[in-house]
Order: sequence, then structure tokens, then C-alpha cells
Amino acid sequence: MNLDSPRPRISLATVAIAADLLELQKLCFQEEAEENHEFNIPPLTQTVEELREDFRTHTVLAAWQGQWLLGSVRGRREGPVCHISRLMVHPDHRGKGLGSLLMAAIEDAFRGVNSYELFTGERSLRNLRLYAGLGYVPVRREQVTQRLTLVHLQKRRAGKELVAGLSTPPFD
Ligand SMILES: CC(C)(COP(=O)(O)OP(=O)(O)OC[C@H]1O[C@@H](n2cnc3c(N)ncnc32)[C@H](O)[C@@H]1OP(=O)(O)O)[C@@H](O)C(=O)NCCC(=O)NCCS
Repeated sequence: MNLDSPRPRISLATVAIAADLLELQKLCFQEEAEENHEFNIPPLTQTVEELREDFRTHTVLAAWQGQWLLGSVRGRREGPVCHISRLMVHPDHRGKGLGSLLMAAIEDAFRGVNSYELFTGERSLRNLRLYAGLGYVPVRREQVTQRLTLVHLQKRRAGKELVAGLSTPPFD
């Protein structure tokens, strides 16, 4: 399979792909687990029933090349914030921009929010570099287990700070 042609297509996923998505998720997050020396992480322990439930609570996008599922990402709105999770690209198709495309697509699907939030393991240096390049900044750290510390990152939607600033009377 070649990513150059045809171009992968990103679309809204339905619960019908839950089993295939779980298989891809377990393959993709193995590396994240290895890097962080922690295998007891939700992407690896999630059951197909739990993943089906995610389709009720999240917007799930999938990247396809023909019939092949190459990647995915989830988003969920909570007030003015969109929480992004489970960004994944098949190991054979990484480093070609698909992860960034999925991020752009999920941000676009939640255009109405003020900010996007996500997290990754503090040892996932390539993930941190990817998110930094997309404009995400670290806002807090959370120690989850003895081995695993998460870095929470945030990106404000362009113009949101400006709008907030303009709504403040100039004489304040
Ligand atoms: C993170 C991930 C989705 C990136 O997908 P991708 O299609 O390779 O992303 P892009 O091609 O748009 O961007 C490449 C960047 O991603 C980052 N990256 C993270 N893991 C990578 C990997 N295994 N291979 C290549 N790039 C990776 C790097 O910063 C790279 O930039 P660089 O070229 O400066 O090193 C993919 O590596 C993946 O599925 N990882 C496992 C699951 C995971 O950790 N998801 C994130 C959870 S927070």
C-alpha cells in the first residue's frame, strides 16, 4: 500500500468499525506503552463494549485508504473545551502527515469551541514534538502511577483570546 496515491480520506466513523478500530488502537498504543514503561493504560485495556460506548459520547473520525483503516481520532465537547483523544496512525504509515491531518480534521469538527485539550505521556517525546508543532502548549502534569506521568496540553482557537480581550471595556 502506498500513501501517495490515492490520498487517505478522513470521514466520520460509525460504531460498525468498533472491532477494527480496537485492533488498530491496540497495535498503535503498544509503542506509547513501551515508551512510558506502563502497559496498564486505557487504550490497551479498553474493551470493544467500552469502545462502542465512545461512539455515543464522542465524535470519532477515521482515515481510510480504500478499505484500509489507517488511523483515527476522537473528540468530545465539554462546554467551551474540546477534549481530543486516541489519535492513532498505523505504524506502517507514520511520519507522512496523516496524524497532523487527523488533528486538523477533529479541530475543524469542533470549530465552535474556545480551546482544545489533550494529554500524552511525559516520555512520549515524539508526540510532544508533534503537538508542539500544532500549537499545543503544556498546562499541567499529572502523575497517574509510579511509572506514568501525563502532560496535559492546550491550544486556544485562533482569535478567541482577541475576542475575549475586545469584550473588555478599553477603560477597564
Ligand atoms: C502520534 C501519531 C498519531 C502521529 O502520526 P503520524 O501520521 O506519524 O504524524 P505526522 O506524520 O503528522 O507527524 C509526524 C510527527 O509525529 C510525531 N511522531 C510521534 N510518534 C511517531 C512515530 N512513531 N513515527 C513517526 N512520527 C511520530 C513526530 O513528532 C513526527 O514529527 P518529526 O517528523 O518531527 O519527528 C502516531 O505516531 C501514533 O499513532 N502513535 C501511537 C499512538 C499515540 O501515541 N498517539 C498519541 C496519543 S496522545
